[in-house]
Amino acid sequence: MTPNHRPFRAAVVVAAAVLIPLAACRNESKLASIIPLSPTVAPGAIGYELYQAHCAACHGRDGRGDGIARTFLGVTPRDFWNEPFRYVSTLDGTATEEDLAQTIGLGRTNGEMPAAPWLSDEEIASLAAYVRELNRLGWVGRLTSEFQSDGLTSAEIEQIATERVTPEEIITVTAPGWHFRPDVATGRELYMQSCASCHGPDGRGDGLDKPLDERGRPITVRDLTRSPIRGGSGHIELYKRIRCGVPGTPMPAQEALTDEQVWQLVFFTQYLAGKPKGVHR
Ligand code: HEC
Ligand code: HEC
Repeated sequence: MTPNHRPFRAAVVVAAAVLIPLAACRNESKLASIIPLSPTVAPGAIGYELYQAHCAACHGRDGRGDGIARTFLGVTPRDFWNEPFRYVSTLDGTATEEDLAQTIGLGRTNGEMPAAPWLSDEEIASLAAYVRELNRLGWVGRLTSEFQSDGLTSAEIEQIATERVTPEEIITVTAPGWHFRPDVATGRELYMQSCASCHGPDGRGDGLDKPLDERGRPITVRDLTRSPIRGGSGHIELYKRIRCGVPGTPMPAQEALTDEQVWQLVFFTQYLAGKPKGVHR
């Protein structure tokens, strides 16, 4: 998509974001039949109205990533039922409240997942809880078909599903010590050991043959020399991506690296992208 198409695309997305919920309100009974029956996400649930007003155009009325505006996007909106959250700060593949709030308030993916600066902190928190609940219900569905024949009760399944979306191994990002110096040679050595097999020796994303995501859909390994970094290209976000990986994709967490090694990789990733080294999100 050339830059000239962006205003048009933005206009279509904004129009869809406004019109679809309006159309939906006119036909609440039809909507109720589409929304899954769980009262935690049905009309009246906390976050429901906000979700329909601000998110359904892209993510779909019931959060399966199939909103009408998705056709105008270069990146598929997340299916909250079936996909994990990708931009996380945990080692167990779950997203914290803060991860979700950051996604919703500040946006990701260079605006394909748009920022929503008009929402208050409380509104963002209720939306975060709402999408997490959709994610949990997805687990309930999968676990039910997997384990019900093993005799697990629905209460047990509910509990396992809740555990699956509850963060336990949250990382903290601390600035490297005063003696730390970003060093291209060290960064490159670590990169060749831990990253080049997928991202290619020069960072061009050509290390894997036909990679797939967790659901078996074709995926591209990021070209670190030119593709935008979707989760955020600042030091802290890059640290989280490298340490925690990108759940739902082949990009693995790196638990064995020391803090300094991760920082070297952060700077080396920015070096590959030719970015200025200022601290930003
Ligand atoms: C213009 C379309 C659009 C709208 C409107 C939109 N999103 Fe998204 N959203 C996306 C896209 C596209 C992605 C996938 C980004 C990616 O994969 O990098 C996404 C991803 C997400 C994610 C997943 C982040 C992660 O860690 O994987 C969350 C959570 C999310 N959106 C919540 C919301 C909420 C809540 C709203 C309403 C306030 C909303 N979105 C509105 C397009 C949209
Ligand atoms: C097993 C393959 C694999 C390995 C190993 C790997 N990556 Fe990735 N990486 C991927 C894939 C696939 C994506 C794209 C994920 C997506 O589409 O959301 C990705 C995405 C990224 C991103 C972009 C995240 C964003 O927010 O858009 C960065 C940065 C990155 N990798 C850096 C690294 C670094 C540094 C290493 C080494 C420590 C590494 N990767 C190791 C497969 C890998």
